[in-house]
Amino acid sequence: MTAQSDLTLDLDAYWMPFTSKRAFKKAPRFVTGAKGVHFTTADGKQVLDGLATLWCVNAGHCHPRIVERIREQAGELDFASSFGLGHPGPFAVAGRVAALAPPGLDHVFFTNSGSEAVDTALKIVIAYHKLRGEGTRRIFVGRERAYHGVNIGGLSVSGMQLNRRSFEATLLGNVDHLAHTQDLATRAFVRGQAPTGAELADELERRIIAVHDASNIAAVIVEPVSGAGGVLIPPAGYLQRLREICDRHGILLVFDEVITGFGRLGRPFASQFFGVTPDLFTFAKGITSGAVPLGGVVVRKEIYDTFMNASGPGVELFHGYTYSGHPRAAAAALGALDAYAEEALFDRANLLAGDFEDGVHSLRGLPNVIDTRNLQLIGAVELAPRPGAPGARALEAFGKCWDRGVYVRPIGDALAICPPLVVEKRHLDQIFGVVADVLKSVA
Ligand SMILES: Cc1ncc(COP(=O)(O)O)c(C=O)c1O
Repeated sequence: MTAQSDLTLDLDAYWMPFTSKRAFKKAPRFVTGAKGVHFTTADGKQVLDGLATLWCVNAGHCHPRIVERIREQAGELDFASSFGLGHPGPFAVAGRVAALAPPGLDHVFFTNSGSEAVDTALKIVIAYHKLRGEGTRRIFVGRERAYHGVNIGGLSVSGMQLNRRSFEATLLGNVDHLAHTQDLATRAFVRGQAPTGAELADELERRIIAVHDASNIAAVIVEPVSGAGGVLIPPAGYLQRLREICDRHGILLVFDEVITGFGRLGRPFASQFFGVTPDLFTFAKGITSGAVPLGGVVVRKEIYDTFMNASGPGVELFHGYTYSGHPRAAAAALGALDAYAEEALFDRANLLAGDFEDGVHSLRGLPNVIDTRNLQLIGAVELAPRPGAPGARALEAFGKCWDRGVYVRPIGDALAICPPLVVEKRHLDQIFGVVADVLKSVA
């Protein structure tokens, strides 16, 4: 699409996701192309993608490996259902994902998005407990400020009030939430993981198990590092403590790795970075570097085997999407996985972590900055809200950053900064330089 054709677009018909449509219509921002770490806007400007476009584009935009695979696949096998039919792509991707996953997590179910991956994981958990004769385990434990997508199951375990409030009446009733891990009074401006706060995990045993009894609790689901809820870094030892409590009580631990998967923390998955292995984990986004929608759930061998051994000769899991394992999504995933391996991209977050951390914390001391936080290539700067207008300051900062050629994302009054893994030091300098200038101007 060219800048010229934008002028003729009808801006009414498309109901945009998570967007103030009325504000968008007044000042539309259009992207018409992207390459590497840059977008091209409709008016021909280059904008540096400081968020890997919602934590997706880890290999950079239009990576030649991925483009080539998609092109080949599109002309060879456009679509074949995976309901009872096999085609090579998803088998190959599942094998590659299982090989990257921690030992014992060997089986992959494909979805089209992170939201579907979360709801799929919750359904597998419930069916697994039922097959094992523990059908009373029906309660899910999520966390305040968690984001697990927008479908009913994922929204139910999420903890973001704005997302939930219109739908509260229809959410699952069998859900409890742990407290989130942010405490600006004692843990602001921390570099990496805070040394205190692991004890927050004890709420699982002290309050939640004490109230509901472990025999009724199916699973705990957390993002290892929460992203869309404001970029919250887990305190040191917190995830380990959750794992220990789950183990003591036969509760499954699900990691939602939709943004942490595929190199964001310098390892294939966050579980490997933290040294904590879940029973199931979800992924999406980085699996194709955002090029084609694809998500999935990886499960421990014991879980998969329970389904295979318990059922008769028919379908073992009555669940799936028409496009589960779509050939083009699989092709994009194979291209992305090749790019990650050939260019050692998962190591980029390790190599850049020091410069990135310094950049994030260089924003400390600027007007209204109440926290800076980071882990590997995940970071955020949090601003004091304007009285009576929560989110307004970060929203204004986002707009000004965009106008000055840098894309970062406002989440409440935080700005999230999580660039593609292919970013270089000079790009980081540009991101933090522009954000710093803008923060002075939104004082
Ligand atoms: C942790 C997490 N889970 C689930 C989702 C939902 O993914 P999708 O938007 O692909 O449905 C997201 C999206 O940002 C996410 O960050």
